[in-house]
Amino acid sequence: MLDEKQELRLKEIMSQMTLEEKIGQLQYSGGSAVGAFEVDVEELINMVYDGRMTKAELMKILSSTEMDYHEEDLRAGRIGSYGGVNDLNLFLRLQKIAVEESRLGIPLFFGYDVVHGHRTVTPIPLGESCAWEIELWERTARMAAEEAASCGIKMTFAPMVDVAKDARWGRIAESAGEDTLLNGAYGAAKVKGFQGKDLSSPDSIASCMKHFAGYGFSEAGRDYNRVDISIQRLYEEIFPAFKACVKAGVSSVMPAFNDINGVPCSVNSWLLTDVLRKEWGFDGLTISDANAIGECVIHGIAADREDAAKQALEAGMDIDMSSNCYAEHLKTLVETKTLNMNALNRAVEDVIRLKLALGLFDDPYQTTAQRQKDTLISPEKRMLAREAAQKSIVLLKNEEKILPLRLDTHLGIAGMLADNRAEMTGTWAMGAEEEDCISLVDACKTQGVKYTFFNDIENILISDCDVFIAAIGESKGESGEAASRSNIDLCEADIKLLKKLIETGKPVIAVLFNGRPLAIGWLKEKVLAILEAWHPGVEAGNAILDILFGKVNPSAKLTTTFPNAAGQCPMYYDHINTGRPSGKSKFSSKYLDVPSEPVYPFGYGLSYTSFAYSNLDVKIRDKELLVSVAVQNTGSCNGDEIVQCYIHDPVGRRVRPVQKLVDFAKISLAPQESRILSFIIPFEKLGYYDQTMQFVIDDGTIKVMAGGSSVDCLCKEIQIKMKLGGNYA
Ligand code: GLC
Repeated sequence: MLDEKQELRLKEIMSQMTLEEKIGQLQYSGGSAVGAFEVDVEELINMVYDGRMTKAELMKILSSTEMDYHEEDLRAGRIGSYGGVNDLNLFLRLQKIAVEESRLGIPLFFGYDVVHGHRTVTPIPLGESCAWEIELWERTARMAAEEAASCGIKMTFAPMVDVAKDARWGRIAESAGEDTLLNGAYGAAKVKGFQGKDLSSPDSIASCMKHFAGYGFSEAGRDYNRVDISIQRLYEEIFPAFKACVKAGVSSVMPAFNDINGVPCSVNSWLLTDVLRKEWGFDGLTISDANAIGECVIHGIAADREDAAKQALEAGMDIDMSSNCYAEHLKTLVETKTLNMNALNRAVEDVIRLKLALGLFDDPYQTTAQRQKDTLISPEKRMLAREAAQKSIVLLKNEEKILPLRLDTHLGIAGMLADNRAEMTGTWAMGAEEEDCISLVDACKTQGVKYTFFNDIENILISDCDVFIAAIGESKGESGEAASRSNIDLCEADIKLLKKLIETGKPVIAVLFNGRPLAIGWLKEKVLAILEAWHPGVEAGNAILDILFGKVNPSAKLTTTFPNAAGQCPMYYDHINTGRPSGKSKFSSKYLDVPSEPVYPFGYGLSYTSFAYSNLDVKIRDKELLVSVAVQNTGSCNGDEIVQCYIHDPVGRRVRPVQKLVDFAKISLAPQESRILSFIIPFEKLGYYDQTMQFVIDDGTIKVMAGGSSVDCLCKEIQIKMKLGGNYA
């Protein structure tokens, strides 16, 4: 991470530090609210999320004397970083104290959850992943970094690359969906975008990948629940996305709340040291999730907070995010020689090393009020947010070619999410401003679309509208952290509204705003068209109208399976077969009351044009597969197609997934234009871990599939011959 000169500087700084100052660098503080709100700032933020407080009230508290940022501790070198600060003046004040009034003048870094845009909010990650566009993912992260850095933020707790296969889990919204390869590609692009070419540049921020590891596999989709996962599955399905981020140069790692094999990730030395540092060569910073070290006591792995501090530090956890266990106990642990001093020094070095890499010792501020003003939300930034939303919206159904609509169509708009700016951002958008957001109704006004907005659905029957748009789904608080659901059906109010609209006999188009797959089997039967908009960000309304009226041809494809019911969760495309796959026989693996096929499968999404696939060809060259397939635009308008390449190994030493995504590409084709696409699949992508954790590639048949959705592929078989025994070294 540093050059030789900087490493020397690091040693010099380390040599000047007292024990107390060293411990201070491991303390990440959120400040705390005093007076009426004696809680941590994280808790205040949670209060906004679950509706106990408005954002305006929070801002008032944060900017008033009711917040205590422990400035005496800061002066004494007992705080090394802050979180939750998105106020430039406060940032400047706290940084000035650190630099000018603490003994060694070590600068602070400020962390924040910049998850999908900062002020210019882009679609939630699950939505943006449906664009399958690496370059877009990187550009939106770059924009987020520029904005956040202009506010003094130098680290984001993103990307989250938890492979998420369970629609009940609220944090599926923060993921790139259910596939490992996609999460890795998405994560690596985000890391590059956030960090830019040079971490020390004033428009770059450090990226912290999370949650290491397995959090997406929380039992029953309940947040913070235990995870029970085989080591093979960890290595094959969970680790690769994190490894992709490490390869992209990620600066920091946040361990997950859950346990792996009974050891919570926050104190799991196998994960944090053996795998992360020794096996993968990660040389950055580890930072705990909020209060996670303290929670090790309740979890049942530490006898008390002192024990938790010792276990976490020795496992390889550098910074304690707001549990205060390090601040309270590390000194005694060192003085009584209970704690290994090398572990402490290593952790402190990681912090100082990152601060050096971020250029904070040379310029601790890196921003000004003018810079912030020039950087935050602009017409160009809004253009990118609009493009990202257009590319994230998935057209799920379009019967009778009802879409795109004619420009003179009179829309009847109804639904709780039709004119609700604050809801457009989705989960984790703490830098957002409600007034920046454009609702569907706002966009109709500014784009000059003929519309009637029905606040009261009782009046609907007498309307003279041509089509109805039902803006339904989930509020932003219904997905994200601590927002698991045991029922993923549409809510009663939405169903009531839909029934009323359908009664009119006019065409009904559903626009879904949600942070997870919903069970929409009923909806699929009842309406002519469905647009999955997710939570699209500040340009929500504009992007949706762009698609509805055909200014933009939809191209997004699902990165998450839509089950028929929550009872089927987790439901995902890359499952392994059973000996009794779902079939006609009663004694096959299925439910009595819902179909075995998903409502909408992984990789699925419609366009206003159509594409035809032909001539799938697979050859072997050295140790790679050369796959080619012809794709033609068979419709009458330009369109983008996301071409997917899957494999299946029908006879494995361990049963292999029925399908596994190994590559993808996005292409633009004019009407009737066709193109031959090639994928090079290294044999390594066919490999997996056997029972003894040897990485192996089987001799024999491999099925290769290519197509426009996981359920709509051409298929070809090829014979693999590695060497005798089929072992791949
Ligand atoms: C949390 C989350 C984590 C986030 C952190 C800081 O509770 O689990 O994803 O980065 O708090 O806000």
